[in-house]
Amino acid sequence: MTLIDGKAISAQIKQEIAAEVAEIVAKGGKRPHLAAILVGHDGGSETYVAHKVKACGECGFKSTLIRFEADVTEEELLAKVRELNEDADVDGFIVQLPLPKHISEQKVIETIDYRKDVDGFHPINVGRMSIGLPCFVSATPAGILELLKRYEIPTKGAECVVLGRSNIVGKPVAALMMQKAYPGNATVTVCHSATKNLAEICRRADIIIAALGSPEFVKADMVKEGAVIIDVGTTRVPSTVTKSGWKLKGDVDFEAVAPKCSFITPVPGGVGPMTIVSLMRNTLLAAKKAVYAD
Ligand code: GUN
Repeated sequence: MTLIDGKAISAQIKQEIAAEVAEIVAKGGKRPHLAAILVGHDGGSETYVAHKVKACGECGFKSTLIRFEADVTEEELLAKVRELNEDADVDGFIVQLPLPKHISEQKVIETIDYRKDVDGFHPINVGRMSIGLPCFVSATPAGILELLKRYEIPTKGAECVVLGRSNIVGKPVAALMMQKAYPGNATVTVCHSATKNLAEICRRADIIIAALGSPEFVKADMVKEGAVIIDVGTTRVPSTVTKSGWKLKGDVDFEAVAPKCSFITPVPGGVGPMTIVSLMRNTLLAAKKAVYAD
């Protein structure tokens, strides 16, 4: 069993990005600039955004964090999005999700200029991704594919089972894994809350990508000997051991499943760090106008 070390790979990629940024700046180019909008004080969102801001520093990017209280109106938030769309110094920006109930996430996403949508959530980016055109690919799916590539995991013709159909992970990763490319070219099955015989479908899988947000959902009897397991779950559960009072739990019962696998990602330290680094890469691409010219 090989443990997929997302932390180490992401550190390596951040170094690669930082080297490229240093070269751009040395040649008189503009330092890439990522802005993040954070609404309210959700613990998970605070942590994710803090990690994103820290990663910007490590990559040599400029970052701006824009905060709103949870009672911000939808119009106020949309006005800020429009302002960032027009701000020539900002190469890309994100609005951290989830948003408070009174704000339409879809409206916010669709107001972001798709050329600055480094989260890859805008329908133009989602649509272009699904038909294999250059675009900003959303960070978690991009991070998963990068791990498969760096560990040279074969995917062509593989039975790939995706657990979960979210817009952020399940749907895009399924689309990417079926594309005629490497990584990809797999036979993809997407399972969700209405799926029958889920355990049986999982047992067929050469690759399982678990992204349903249900701690330790995938048990050993659902996994074929030698399977590759990618665990996207990051549920915060209370802990008496950690200083923060909580810890992250994946969607896979790691202790029981790991001995059966050829490759497996841990939680934390697997997909999570790759997600952040994919956002950094998208920001660099935005700064270089490598996906969309003006
Ligand atoms: N909430 C959970 N994951 C993400 C993400 O990748 N981007 C944003 N903006 N919000 C999130």
